[in-house]
Amino acid sequence: MGSEGEAEAQYFCKDFEWEDLRAEVEANPSLAYHFGSLSSSTLPPPESDVQAWKQFHLRHATGKFFKERRYLLKEFPQLLSCAPNSKLLEVGCGNGSTALPILRANKDLIVYACDCSDETLERAKEIICDATTVASFKHRFHTFCCDLSTNGFPNWLACNSCRDKFLQKQSYCLSEDVRENNGLHFTDPCPEEFDCCVGGLDFVTLIFTLSAIPLERMPKSIKECFIVLKPGGMVFFRDYGLYDMTMLRFEPDKRVGFREYMRSDGTRSYFFCLDTVRNLFLGAGFDELELDYCCVKSVNRQKGKCMQRVWVHGKFQKPALSCQ
Ligand SMILES: C[S@@+](CC[C@H](N)C(=O)[O-])C[C@H]1O[C@@H](n2cnc3c(N)ncnc32)[C@H](O)[C@@H]1O
Repeated sequence: MGSEGEAEAQYFCKDFEWEDLRAEVEANPSLAYHFGSLSSSTLPPPESDVQAWKQFHLRHATGKFFKERRYLLKEFPQLLSCAPNSKLLEVGCGNGSTALPILRANKDLIVYACDCSDETLERAKEIICDATTVASFKHRFHTFCCDLSTNGFPNWLACNSCRDKFLQKQSYCLSEDVRENNGLHFTDPCPEEFDCCVGGLDFVTLIFTLSAIPLERMPKSIKECFIVLKPGGMVFFRDYGLYDMTMLRFEPDKRVGFREYMRSDGTRSYFFCLDTVRNLFLGAGFDELELDYCCVKSVNRQKGKCMQRVWVHGKFQKPALSCQ
């Protein structure tokens, strides 16, 4: 965590064209092992990834890897201008690198944060409480432990009955018949006070978390985000892009799947091309608002080396209920 090494101003950058990097990488014979076929004997056991993240956080409990991602506020300006008491879920929050700058910048937001590791949630709470200067963030910051890729999110974010109603309304409103019938009207799925649950979320942030989840469990993870969002709610996505320098540095034996690598500590990293991200989100029912590579050149002064970093920036929206 924190190895992304991004400077604050590098939020939506094009220092080079991704297609040029792709041509260079694919023509380089010393990198050919990134594209060859894999033997199934090299595949890791299922769900060892979550255990590996838990161990990772136990080993790094000092929070040394903590770095606030302030650039997200520029990248996703909706984080600064939302209605009072809007609700955001930071998925795979780690030590709170994403949650803290959002809490600082917008007093109107209630931030829920989850991770598969209890250890890191405790650390996030400590860091966020320590960072409090003027007002307490405590009443606006709530954590919970979950593995979204297998068990999904808890019911109290959007209870079963509300989830069903979101889904029913969604499919009903999207059907051609209903689009043509302007006379139909639905009531909100939850009562005003939301006794049954928090009533769904306005925003979900997925910041360097999806890449940590094995490819085969990504569709369920994205669907979970879709289900807990209110209609019209948005996902803010940032993650590793295909041919990022950190991908090209992986040795052949670290490759465990298609564009998927495992570090020595068992944690995983997937490297996304735009089509993979697009297919995952559109497949879950989202509309695409923004999707692009962020290509940044940075120089390692000590080694005098130029590093080509690639991230994917995305913004996706759950369709609003046009028939309301
Ligand atoms: C690279 S860190 C990103 C942390 C944070 N989003 C940030 O902006 O720094 C990925 C996080 O995802 C968490 N994670 C990995 N797999 C998960 C899963 N299946 N469910 C929930 N969290 C998971 C890890 O524990 C880790 O804290």
